[in-house]
Amino acid sequence: MIPRHILLALSAATFASADTLINTLQQNGFNDFASIYQDADPSILSSVDAGSNMIIYASKNVQGTTNSTLRRRDTTTNTQIAAMSSVQNTASSSKKLRFKRQNADSSPAVYQSLLNDPEIVNLGQGVNQSLVEKPVEGVPTVFAGAGKAVPVVGDDITFDGGVIRPVDSLLEIPGSIANTLTLFPQLSNLTALLIQYNLVEPVSEAAGITVLAPEDSAFAAVDTSGLTDEQIVAILSQHVIVNYVGYSPLLKDGQVLNTLANGTVTVAVRDSGVYFNGAKVTAADVIVGNGVVHTVASVVGSEGAGVPEDGGDDTENPENPENPPATGAAGRVGLGLKTLGLSALGMAVAALF
Ligand SMILES: *[C@@H]1O[C@H](CO)[C@@H](O)[C@H](O)[C@H]1NC(C)=O
Ligand SMILES: *[C@@H]1O[C@H](CO)[C@@H](O)[C@H](O)[C@H]1NC(C)=O
Ligand SMILES: *[C@@H]1O[C@H](CO)[C@@H](O)[C@H](O)[C@H]1NC(C)=O
Ligand SMILES: *[C@@H]1O[C@H](CO)[C@@H](O)[C@H](O)[C@H]1NC(C)=O
Repeated sequence: MIPRHILLALSAATFASADTLINTLQQNGFNDFASIYQDADPSILSSVDAGSNMIIYASKNVQGTTNSTLRRRDTTTNTQIAAMSSVQNTASSSKKLRFKRQNADSSPAVYQSLLNDPEIVNLGQGVNQSLVEKPVEGVPTVFAGAGKAVPVVGDDITFDGGVIRPVDSLLEIPGSIANTLTLFPQLSNLTALLIQYNLVEPVSEAAGITVLAPEDSAFAAVDTSGLTDEQIVAILSQHVIVNYVGYSPLLKDGQVLNTLANGTVTVAVRDSGVYFNGAKVTAADVIVGNGVVHTVASVVGSEGAGVPEDGGDDTENPENPENPPATGAAGRVGLGLKTLGLSALGMAVAALF
C-alpha cells in the first residue's frame, strides 16, 4: 500500500495541469451541474479531490429528474444527486491508467457511488448505492434509478480527482421497489400481487436483493385460481433472490442463488440472453435502493428449468407440449418443486410447457 499522501504528491507532480472538479466543470460548460456540487454537503466535494480516482457523470441538462422535478432542490437533494453522480472508478485501478481517458466503448461494470443515505440505500453493511454502466447498441449507458437508461454523450474529461463523463441527463436517485415497480405498466400484476399478499414490506426492507419481475404476459400464462394464499406467496417469494444484488455485469453462467422461498435459482448466460431457471430476462438492471430488479418473460420455477442451447431457437412456443425446451425443464421443475413442497407452483409452471 502506498500511503495516500505520497499518491497525492505523485499525482500533483505528474498531472500538474489537472484542475479541480468545479473548475473543470465550469471550463467545459457544465455550470449548472457544478452548482449542484457547490450546493451539496461539502463532504462530497472533499471526497472527489485530487487522487480520488472517481468518475463523475455530469450533464448539461439538469432540469429535473423523473422524481425530483416537484421537489425543491435543497441541500439534501443536491447532496443525493452529487453523491449518486460520483462513483469510484474501479475499472482503471492500474496507476498508469488512472488519469487516462476511458475508452468510449466501456465494458459492463458495477460502480459504487458516494450515496450512502440510509433513507435510500439498503444494500448491506458498508455498501453504497451502486449503478451499472454497460453498452446498449454500442453506446455506453448508465443505469441508475427509476429504470432510466442514461447514455454517455461525450469523451471523458480529466480533472485532478479522476474523469468527468458527460451523460445525457441527471442520474435518478433510486427509489424503493414499490415505487419503482409502479413506473412499469407491464408489471401491474406483480405490483398488485405484492400488495395483496403483504409482501411489499418484506421485499422493500430486505437488504441487498435481486427481484425477478415477471411481466403481465407471464402471469396471463399461469392459472393461479386454484392456488392457496400460501402457494401464491411461495411463488412470489421464489422471485426474490436474497443477500445478493445480481447486477447484470456480475451474473455468471451456472451461478446458484438462494430465494426468499428457501429455494434456489440457477443463472444461465447464453448468446440469446440471460435466464433465471429458464425465465428469460427482458429488461435488466432496474436499480433500486435495496437492490436490483430484472424483468422476466415467464414465471420462475423452483430449480433447474431448461434454457436454450447457445445458437438454439428460444422463440419456440412454450405452450406447445410437442416442443419442450431442450433440457427437459418440465420434469426437473416438478422434482424441485416437490422437494420444496411447492407442487402447486409445479402445476402452474408445468402449464407453461
Ligand atoms: C460511500 O459513501 C461515503 C459517503 O459519501 C464515502 O465516504 C465512501 O468513500 C463511499 N464508499 C465507497 C466504497 O465509495
Ligand atoms: C421519489 O421521491 C420520493 C421522495 O424522495 C421517494 O419516497 C420515492 O421513493 C421516489 N420514487 C422513485 C420511483 O424513485
Ligand atoms: C393480471 O391483471 C389482469 C388485469 O388487471 C387481471 O385480470 C388478472 O387477474 C391479473 N392476474 C393475476 C395473476 O393477478
Ligand atoms: C424459509 O425458511 C425459514 C427458516 O427455516 C422459515 O421461517 C420460512 O417460513 C421459510 N419460508 C418459506 C417461504 O418457506
